[in-house]
Amino acid sequence: MVSTVALAMAALAAELLLLAIIGPLRIDKTCALGRRSQIDPIVSNRSLHCAKGLVFVYDLPEKFNVELVRSCDSLNPWKSMCSALSNSGLGPPLGKISSSSSSSWWPWSKAWQFLFRDPDRWPARRSWHATDQFSGEIIFHRRMLDHRCRTLDPDGASAFFVPFYAGLDISRNLWASGKSSSDVDSLGEQLLHWLQRQHPHFNRSGGADHFLVAGRISWDFRRMPSAAGEWGSSLFHQIEMRSVKRLVIERNPWDDSELGVPYPTSFHPSSDEDLAQWVEFVQGSPRPHLVAFAGSPRPGYRSDFRQVLLGQCRAAPRGISRCLDCTADTAGCTSDPLRVTKLFLSSVFCLQPRGDSFTRKSLFDSLISGCIPVLFWNQSAYWQYELYLPRDPEEYSVFIPHQSVKNGTNVLDVLQGISRERIGRMQRAVLRILPGLVYASSSSGRHWADAFEVAVDGVLGRIKEE
Ligand SMILES: *[C@@H]1O[C@H](CO)[C@@H](O)[C@H](O)[C@H]1NC(C)=O
Ligand SMILES: *[C@@H]1O[C@H](CO)[C@@H](O)[C@H](O)[C@H]1NC(C)=O
Ligand SMILES: *[C@@H]1O[C@H](CO)[C@@H](O)[C@H](O)[C@H]1NC(C)=O
Ligand SMILES: *[C@@H]1O[C@H](CO)[C@@H](O)[C@H](O)[C@H]1NC(C)=O
Repeated sequence: MVSTVALAMAALAAELLLLAIIGPLRIDKTCALGRRSQIDPIVSNRSLHCAKGLVFVYDLPEKFNVELVRSCDSLNPWKSMCSALSNSGLGPPLGKISSSSSSSWWPWSKAWQFLFRDPDRWPARRSWHATDQFSGEIIFHRRMLDHRCRTLDPDGASAFFVPFYAGLDISRNLWASGKSSSDVDSLGEQLLHWLQRQHPHFNRSGGADHFLVAGRISWDFRRMPSAAGEWGSSLFHQIEMRSVKRLVIERNPWDDSELGVPYPTSFHPSSDEDLAQWVEFVQGSPRPHLVAFAGSPRPGYRSDFRQVLLGQCRAAPRGISRCLDCTADTAGCTSDPLRVTKLFLSSVFCLQPRGDSFTRKSLFDSLISGCIPVLFWNQSAYWQYELYLPRDPEEYSVFIPHQSVKNGTNVLDVLQGISRERIGRMQRAVLRILPGLVYASSSSGRHWADAFEVAVDGVLGRIKEE
């Protein structure tokens, strides 16, 4: 115990020293964002608020959704998804953050917790869940059933929601051996037949006023129908799907029927108070580190970009950067939902290179922690989430073209050259967009538009425009 405290104190001393050098880059206190008065109220007047039309939710045969959740034990070859998909897709609440989960954390973090952030004082604790990043289909379905503009009369609807869990379906097949391409496509094709046969509405619009959520990246549904044996299903290449609006966590930027929605993070505030408390906490969080990075390099690849970043991160003077190599399970990047959040809460900038695809959940972990994202590909954010992020990337993020990093540009040098004023401006913008990026855990009693509301509003707007 004594040694732990001594270690903690030593780490704290180092941190304070660092703080003295680079200054406490916490978010400007004058920023009033996140206060409730600043959050757009949702007026609970249906005729006023459903100006973009009413939505009909299909009651699909169970094999298209709830049966998939029931087979949660076999959706993923490595682990059961039952716990992760529980609680309407939010996963189990983290409940009281046990101090044992932080015992393997770095000494500096212990100091941080010990003196500044008693784990019992982690704000809005009840709002945190162990959420799977691919659970959006369930989250959206649950919330749509309660949507204030839902109608039970399809003839009075201007939009149609299809609660097919396309991502859960495909996850059963992506890694399964012995599945033919027609097995992989089967349930999606059955769905399209069902829609055409059962209701006149699908044919009437050619699907253009229909929408669905696929909780995975677009590329998982884009196998060319002729390319048997390749990755994914060909759902999005089916002719009937052409005009159907698709909400995905990573869109194909060249397909106008797709809208990007945030990856679900672990934070699901249920009330205005929980959101306001968190925003205030993020705003006041000391940020002794200039740069944070959490990711797994791919040592098998020559000049792997994440390896380059990790190298630059590690070569920086100690304390300037925190780099977490997520390769080993023991790093806790996925097993401890708060570990990465804590890292990002203590940093000014968070590096967001592409992962296996262009986007990563980490972008959203960084934004909800008040950490300014540093992006290297346009496709990682700017071409993805237009309903959510300001049009001008410079408002809330730093862009360093990946080619220039490969050419030798040092990311830390670039970031160290950014003025205090610009940092303050970006931090305030991040706090402003934060409320729209989280999936709230309640359908009512809130006064801000969360990620779900923004998505539905956006898709209804698109359908109305057409
Ligand atoms: C709701 O909004 C409509 C349209 O503006 C208005 O006519 C109506 O009086 C409002 N109803 C209530 C209960 O506020
Ligand atoms: C919709 O179109 C398909 C394909 O043209 C057709 O097979 C189906 O019978 C139509 N459905 C209805 C309800 O008319
Ligand atoms: C994408 O990033 C480049 C920098 O590599 C930037 O100059 C360009 O404006 C962006 N492209 C588009 C189409 O926005
Ligand atoms: C990187 O280097 C190549 C070759 O020297 C050059 O053509 C390219 O413009 C550079 N790219 C950037 C973004 O600096």
